[in-house]
Amino acid sequence: MPGKVAASILSADFAHLAHQVKLVEQHVDLIHIDAMDAHFVPPLSVGPVVVESLRKVTALPLHCHLMVERPEALFQDFAAAGADIVTCHMEAIDDPAETVRRAASLGMRAGLAVNPSTDVDDVFPFLEFVDRVLVMTVQPGWAGQRFLDDSLPKVESVRKEIDRRGLAVEVEVDGGIDERSGPRCIAAGATVLAAASSIFKAADPGDAARRLAAAAGR
Ligand code: DX5
Ligand code: ZN
Repeated sequence: MPGKVAASILSADFAHLAHQVKLVEQHVDLIHIDAMDAHFVPPLSVGPVVVESLRKVTALPLHCHLMVERPEALFQDFAAAGADIVTCHMEAIDDPAETVRRAASLGMRAGLAVNPSTDVDDVFPFLEFVDRVLVMTVQPGWAGQRFLDDSLPKVESVRKEIDRRGLAVEVEVDGGIDERSGPRCIAAGATVLAAASSIFKAADPGDAARRLAAAAGR
């Protein structure tokens, strides 16, 4: 199965965001937007206003990775801005089934994310209800970190459970993804590769996106 590629804008040049998205658009399947609140993770990044601007320049699905406490409080704003998918961290929510239901009630698909220290089995009770499971392959908060090899067994484990139940849930990996780590994640059962630095820090982001897509078998 060919993998999909998500371009994570965290490493893009925000002064020229529309241009940066256009450079990679034809080679990727999704735009991945990292929202950080300086509480769930130390950094502060972007939110619905950036989603609203991006909505006007691309038809690609906008996936918002919410590294924030109480993500549900922001759902209304992300939905109004044009987000297609919101992914929340298991570490930041009390009632994952209710979180997913609330996103759906606003017309968005929902995902559940796990930090490197969180057991991926924690998402198993909710697999029937989610669009994707996002396995963090670095500590959340920063682009440009090294891929954590010990995330691969987590990808394998959630893939096995999804297949055992015959579900169509995406498994997205996020952090340190490049032409070397990406294919290893696909082999372990990932279906979506999210990448920031390996695309947007490259001299030619369009070509880097094309090469990562080829590595994903897209
Ligand atoms: C990290 C973010 C990632 C990040 C990936 O907290 O969730 O999406 O942008 O950056 P790279 O690809 O540089 O590791
Ligand atoms: Zn992310």
